[in-house]
Amino acid sequence: MSFDEKAARPIAELVAAGESVDALYAELLRAFETERGGVRSDDALKTFRDRWLGRKNGLLSATNDQWLKLAPRELKPQVGKLQNETRKRVEGDLASLQETLAAAGRKRKAIDVTLPGPRRDLGARHPVRLVLEECIEIFGSLGYSVAEGPEIEKFFYNFEALNFPPDHPAVDEMDTLFVTDDTLLRTHTSPNQIRIMEAIEPPLRYVVHGKVYRNDAPDATHSPMFHQLEVFAVSESTTLGDLKGTLEYFAERFFGKGTKTRLRPSFFPFTEPSAEMDVTCPFCAGRGCRICKQTGWIEVLGCGMIDPNVLRSAGLDPDRYQGFAAGFGLDRFAMLKYDINDISLLYNGDVRFLRQFR
Ligand code: DAH
Repeated sequence: MSFDEKAARPIAELVAAGESVDALYAELLRAFETERGGVRSDDALKTFRDRWLGRKNGLLSATNDQWLKLAPRELKPQVGKLQNETRKRVEGDLASLQETLAAAGRKRKAIDVTLPGPRRDLGARHPVRLVLEECIEIFGSLGYSVAEGPEIEKFFYNFEALNFPPDHPAVDEMDTLFVTDDTLLRTHTSPNQIRIMEAIEPPLRYVVHGKVYRNDAPDATHSPMFHQLEVFAVSESTTLGDLKGTLEYFAERFFGKGTKTRLRPSFFPFTEPSAEMDVTCPFCAGRGCRICKQTGWIEVLGCGMIDPNVLRSAGLDPDRYQGFAAGFGLDRFAMLKYDINDISLLYNGDVRFLRQFR
């Protein structure tokens, strides 16, 4: 007979069958101790407590009913004493078991401050992105809006509307990558001058940036894909003075205080007059060094007053409106700013290089 069955019988019956009261309680306690050893979780503890102390079906309720209450008068004192001791023992053990489990739980959750922390890899912004953000910040402070345009562009926007004659050598010189006869990978961001002027009525001030493509053999200064930023302003009163002032302000903020600029006459089909802008070398402050090839100056961008033909292509009346435009390579700016001597470093994805730009 299991002790569960015994607990459900009147004590007189068990004694008649040869059991002793002491042995019965001893057996009960041994069973309790054995089961207690298997309790390792809060859930198991709850089941265990119900089994032993449950008001209705608990084992100690059963012995209270069957053994103590039904005990013949001569056994009562002995049974009463043992029942009482056993209950105290069970209650005490359950309480300390609960405390032990709770402490173990706290220990599992506790943070060991001597362990190394979890490693959290922070991304780094790409140097071209950093330069772009800085340019946008500077032109933004002058009231310029920011836009992007399509990388696959129509021949019309990339060349024709920008006043390139159909047989202009630039179409070849720019090493254009054609997609179809009249679509191509844009070779510069200038087509966005037309797109913006078509869409937005002047006065307007825009910065348009993005990837451009040329079928160039890659070397330390050439990549078949690179980034340009186009900045332009159109209104009824925009002048060459505005162009100069804007670019001087930009150069000093981007390349550092004291940076001087100079405009050299140049030629672009879409501007008239056209110029290239040099800045005093940011590495030697104009004294002459390896980077500026001892000249003290570095060429940084192309610019000019938007050609009347370009305004006309975009549907604007050149007798009413005038504007200036400038364009430059963000990759080149990044290389100048961070003294990077090989453009391929920007694109081969080596994290040891990229990680330096937090
Ligand atoms: N689009 C020219 C290029 O990629 C750069 C340029 C020159 C842009 C003069 C301009 C400009 O807006 O006025 O070589």
